[in-house]
Amino acid sequence: MLVAGNWKMHGSQAMVRGVIPVLAAELRSVELDVVVCPPFPYLSMASECARGSAVAVGAQDLHPAASGAHTGEVSGQMLRDVGCEWVIIGHSERRADNGETDAIVVCKVNAALEAGLSPIVCVGETREEREGGRTFEVVAAQSAAVLECAGPGRLRSLVLAYEPVWAIGTGLTASPEQAQDVHLRLRRQVEAFASGAGSALRVLYGGSVKAANAAALFAMPDIDGGLIGGASLDTGEFAAICRAAEGRSWNK
Ligand code: PGA
Repeated sequence: MLVAGNWKMHGSQAMVRGVIPVLAAELRSVELDVVVCPPFPYLSMASECARGSAVAVGAQDLHPAASGAHTGEVSGQMLRDVGCEWVIIGHSERRADNGETDAIVVCKVNAALEAGLSPIVCVGETREEREGGRTFEVVAAQSAAVLECAGPGRLRSLVLAYEPVWAIGTGLTASPEQAQDVHLRLRRQVEAFASGAGSALRVLYGGSVKAANAAALFAMPDIDGGLIGGASLDTGEFAAICRAAEGRSWNK
């Protein structure tokens, strides 16, 4: 199981210094992967605060190139240099705000893997796409691009996050059954792509996960953890979500 907190454009030095040591102490002996993803300026400090603990640090984006004339951008090698092990790629907010296409997402996945980072790649349908019965068509197309890019040999470093766009930051959560249905289909898609990879791949659910609904979601057989936005800004809430995931520690 893996629980990742996406702080989005929230936080401060004081929050990093305040939150990460508390989380590290709370989650000292948890049997799951915990990742916090603060904004770029705080990654170095977050890595320092998390050193030697069960908490790992991830970024929220990276540039496809390793270095070069790309003003304002950050490369995978830089993220590794400041202690990141993970990076979120293709979040729907970046797809919407920054016009990130599947082609860009794929380049970023490749860059992350080349830099030795584990990508958490977000896929998910809009409300219109769900209402039009196109959920899996959309999610499968987004995932297919990523699978082709990673190739069977690099799949073990990759995590998929199913994040229905209509559930992000809205307080609406996919029901455990709705999420399970998509997760199972994703797993079958991965298995069809590379035999044996489907059962090994971790598929997170994201979209208004809170302590109150986490256990029901994580009880689903094909949900391997969560990508948590708003609730990750509250240390007690995030720790409770992590403990709900730990109840599933028999899983990968
Ligand atoms: P949310 O965000 O938990 O605030 O809905 C999830 C995400 O965007 O990853």
